[in-house]
Amino acid sequence: MHGRGALLSAAAVSALILLVSYVSRDSGRAQTDNRDSQPSALRLEIRRRHKELLPFYNNQGDGAAGVVDNFARTFEHLDDWNIRALGASVALLGCDDLRYITLFESLGSGYTKAVLRGALPNGAAIAIKSVNGQGIDMQRCLDDFGDSEGCYRLVSYKLIKEILLLQRLQHPSMIRLKGHCYRREPDMRVMAVLELGSPLEMIPLLQTPWEERFRICISLVRLLHYLAHSPHGSVGLLDFQPRQFVLVDGELKLTDIDDATIEERMCSSERDCILEFPTKNFSVSCDVTRRCQGLNEKRNLYNAFRYFFTYLLPHRSPSAFQSRLEKIMNQTGNLNIRINETLEAFEEILYLYKSGQYLHKLVLSSLKDYSVHKGFRVKDDGGYRCWPSYDHQRCLLSVHNEAEAAEMCSSHKQCVGFTLTPQRTWTGRHLVSFHSDVDKLIPDVSFSVYVRKPVSSGPGLQR
Ligand SMILES: Nc1ncnc2c1ncn2[C@@H]1O[C@H](COP(=O)(O)OP(=O)(O)OP(=O)(O)O)[C@@H](O)[C@H]1O
Ligand SMILES: *[C@@H]1O[C@H](CO)[C@@H](O)[C@H](O)[C@H]1NC(C)=O
Ligand SMILES: *[C@@H]1O[C@H](CO)[C@@H](O)[C@H](O)[C@H]1NC(C)=O
Ligand SMILES: *[C@@H]1O[C@H](CO)[C@@H](O)[C@H](O)[C@H]1NC(C)=O
Repeated sequence: MHGRGALLSAAAVSALILLVSYVSRDSGRAQTDNRDSQPSALRLEIRRRHKELLPFYNNQGDGAAGVVDNFARTFEHLDDWNIRALGASVALLGCDDLRYITLFESLGSGYTKAVLRGALPNGAAIAIKSVNGQGIDMQRCLDDFGDSEGCYRLVSYKLIKEILLLQRLQHPSMIRLKGHCYRREPDMRVMAVLELGSPLEMIPLLQTPWEERFRICISLVRLLHYLAHSPHGSVGLLDFQPRQFVLVDGELKLTDIDDATIEERMCSSERDCILEFPTKNFSVSCDVTRRCQGLNEKRNLYNAFRYFFTYLLPHRSPSAFQSRLEKIMNQTGNLNIRINETLEAFEEILYLYKSGQYLHKLVLSSLKDYSVHKGFRVKDDGGYRCWPSYDHQRCLLSVHNEAEAAEMCSSHKQCVGFTLTPQRTWTGRHLVSFHSDVDKLIPDVSFSVYVRKPVSSGPGLQR
């Protein structure tokens, strides 16, 4: 960095501060980064964490594999190049690029990591993860070993594991890793740069239309299907909760994956293979390799059921899907089906929904009760509120076509007409705005207004 001092922006300074800010405050106790002086219990623990990462290197066809044939050597060579080699096909940002990021406020923190909002020099928004020096993981280690540098190192392995997993397991529902920086000397520092999301909050989600809640559930099911058949085997998420996920443009993304395992639990009999939940236990078989068969997949699926499906799926669903959804709830809640069949069931619902086939009973003639004004919209909207709406100020719902909208309007007491907007939902359905007043129409080429014809033939009603 020397010689570039003049270029060092305030932002760069803050990025540097991020990297060095966890240096021990009571540095008298643990100032030197000397692994030999670390208590041997801590050293063993660090080695255990390190060993846990080896499978991600071993499965690698490229240059990184050569480095890991010898454990001792690996320990000395886990450096930036080594992590980077894993993602050789993807252009990731490295330490040099990340020197010029700008840091903003905290996005959250947990047991292990602290997450900040930031921006790349080109303005792109990012999330930056680093070790949470105030987190429980760090506190616990300090209580046990009192060695801040050693503890930072220990906790860092979780972030390194996350970086490795995010490179090895890529899926649309996995947060995208944009870069990382790893420094071994003078003291170990790790930073991961991710696409920016917003927290997944269940309460507001409960108030969103079913289509959006279904989107989250099907994304999760697709992710779990991928994890069950990942290149590393069946991945189990040991700490599976809504707060491990964020939303990026309405799409669910797993952001916390440091508690994942790629190993099935060891067993000597079926008794070792009980999957315990607060209100329910399941047992799986112990196979010939002395592993609990399919335990990771089943744990993931039941967690999806209890944390996501029960809240998001059945509630206010289209009536045509109610029995299908009840069946999914029953089968996943009892683990009677596996992720394969769960995915099939979800994809079928999505297909029916997108194609409008669920509307088989819809009378297409319901449109004949409406007069059409193409190229117009309603001035000042003339809306009423309904729930759950895409817009809290008015009644904005998604429909397959005009006929479905007409049927909805006819079933709302206040509704005298509706506007077909050019907006589409993620499934491609039209957003329609419903009105209690359609007196003033103004030209707007991308909209169409449908006005309900008066039922009793009183002349001169409305328009
Ligand atoms: N990409 C992101 N965009 C926005 N916010 C994020 C992102 N990643 C994480 N966060 C927020 O930061 C919080 C902490 O991140 P993370 O879950 O990775 O840390 P942790 O220490 O492993 O937490 P936990 O104790 O829950 O395991 C998350 O709950 C989330 O709200
Ligand atoms: C689940 O199993 C544990 C012991 O394995 C037992 O203590 C608990 O009561 C069981 N819970 C239920 C709901 O059956
Ligand atoms: C689940 O389905 C089974 C039949 O497969 C049925 O006996 C049971 O009552 C259902 N449970 C619920 C809660 O719907
Ligand atoms: C489940 O799906 C995966 C991937 O599509 C496939 O490899 C596997 O054979 C399927 N298993 C069953 C039991 O259908």
